[in-house]
Order: sequence, then C-alpha cells, then structure tokens
Amino acid sequence: MHGSDCTALTVTALTLDLAGRRILANVSFAVRAGEFLGLIGPNGGGKTTLLRTLLGLVPPTHGTISWADRNCGRPRLGYVPQRVSADAHFPLECRELVLQGAAGFLARFGSGRGESQRRCDELLARVGLRGQAATPFVHLSGGQQRRLLLARALMRRPDVLLLDEPTAGVDAEGQDRFCALLRELTGEGLTLILVSHDLPLITAHADRIACLNVTLHWHGRAGELDAGTVQAAYRCELQRYQLRHPISEPPA
Ligand SMILES: Nc1ncnc2c1ncn2[C@@H]1O[C@H](COP(=O)(O)OP(=O)(O)OP(=O)(O)O)[C@@H](O)[C@H]1O
Ligand SMILES: [Mg+2]
Repeated sequence: MHGSDCTALTVTALTLDLAGRRILANVSFAVRAGEFLGLIGPNGGGKTTLLRTLLGLVPPTHGTISWADRNCGRPRLGYVPQRVSADAHFPLECRELVLQGAAGFLARFGSGRGESQRRCDELLARVGLRGQAATPFVHLSGGQQRRLLLARALMRRPDVLLLDEPTAGVDAEGQDRFCALLRELTGEGLTLILVSHDLPLITAHADRIACLNVTLHWHGRAGELDAGTVQAAYRCELQRYQLRHPISEPPA
C-alpha cells in the first residue's frame, strides 16, 4: 500500500454537461500523494472525460477540482491519452516525440539539450524502445506507440501520471513489462490515476478503485471491491470480468 497523509487531488461535486447531456454527475473523491487509483467503468461511463476535466482541458459545469503536491503546490501532471491520431505523414521520429514531453519543463528547470537527450534515451530504454529512437512514430505498432507516449509523459518528471487504457492492444509480454514499470513508478512515489477495462490488472496493482458510470458508483480500497458493485456499475454479469483475486459476493 502506497500513499501518504498529503492529499494530491480533491474533486468535489463535479458535474459536467456536454452538448446538453450529463456526462458526469456530482462526482466527489480524493487521491492522496503516492496513491495508485484505478478508474473503471463501462464504455461511455465518462472516464476519459473525467481525466480531461482533471487536466483542465474541459471546464466543469459545476463543482471544483483542487490539486496540491507534497508541498501543497500544484503538481506536474503527465498524461498518456487513450487515442493518438497520427496520420501516415506525421513526420516525427520517436526521439523527437519523447523530447516534446519536456517542452516548457526543461526550458524552466533543465540545464540544456544534453540533459534532455540523456533522459530521452533513458526513457526509451525503460519502455523497451531503445532501438527505435530514429524510427518514425507512425511506423510503430499500436502497443509500441502507447509505450512511446508513456515515455513522453515521463519526460517532464510528473508528480501525477494520468493513464487512459495504457495496455489496450498491448501483448502479454508488453503487459508484464508495463506492470513492472508501474511498480517502479509507484515505488518512486508517483501518484497514478489509471483508467482500464483490465480488472485483474487494476485489482492486482491499485491501492484504491473508483467505479464510474456518470455517477461515482463506488470508491474504496481495491481489496474491498465486491461483485455487486461491479455488476451495478457495468449493468452486466461479473463473470465476463476475470478477476485476479477473488472479490466478495454481494449481500443476498
Ligand atoms: N466533446 C464531447 N461532446 C459531447 N459528448 C461527448 C464529448 N466527449 C465525450 N462525450 C460523451 O461523453 C460520454 C463519456 O465519454 P468518455 O469518452 O468519457 O467515456 P469512457 O468512459 O472513457 O469510455 P471508453 O471506455 O469507451 O473509453 C460519451 O457518451 C461520449 O459520447
Ligand atoms: Mg475512454
């Protein structure tokens, strides 16, 4: 169990309407610094929209989002989006794309180009793409592209990392490597908010789980998630979701 007494994020009564539809309704939860929060819920439940709202990309209709790091300042956020739209003529090489992640950050805190190149090479190796530095981004496979976007997000040394289905389309070996990397990142004290449909991954690694389907159906310790909660939020039978550790049956 990771985490500390310091709260990294407080979301209070967050409501969001888009195009006349309620996408998020009265969502409240807090995340402690160093905590790993798994965010689950059905397609269209509002997970990506919640992340985008937390990032400040979508203004809330009602409610507040308040960020604070260990020193109660605003933390640096890293984001691995669910989708990348790169057309076949997208000209960037992998190394250039990872370096983009430091734009603005190294200008303020870094000590020059050499340092960012070194960090970029280190991160490419860390996500298993050392040999692809000069490869055009569009030549990478889908799973490789996701790993590269993770390296880009880590470039600015985030305090909080928001990941939107980072293992979708990633093969078994890639998933294992990703889980090892997740353990490293939580060990380094990063706060993680990870969206995934992979319940075994979430229940095995997250400290807490938030179950979102427009409203927040449940938020609690990963080990306390029960079958009824998942069923109610997903409105389907739990058997479809294989869980890595048994979760309790709902009360009769
Ligand atoms: N810009 C937008 N304008 C109008 N509706 C939107 C907009 N963005 C998202 N939505 C709607 O908000 C709802 C939630 O979408 P969102 O992408 O957040 O779901 P999700 O939980 O991430 O789903 P998935 O598991 O499929 O990724 C959907 O019904 C979607 O159509
Ligand atoms: Mg989504």
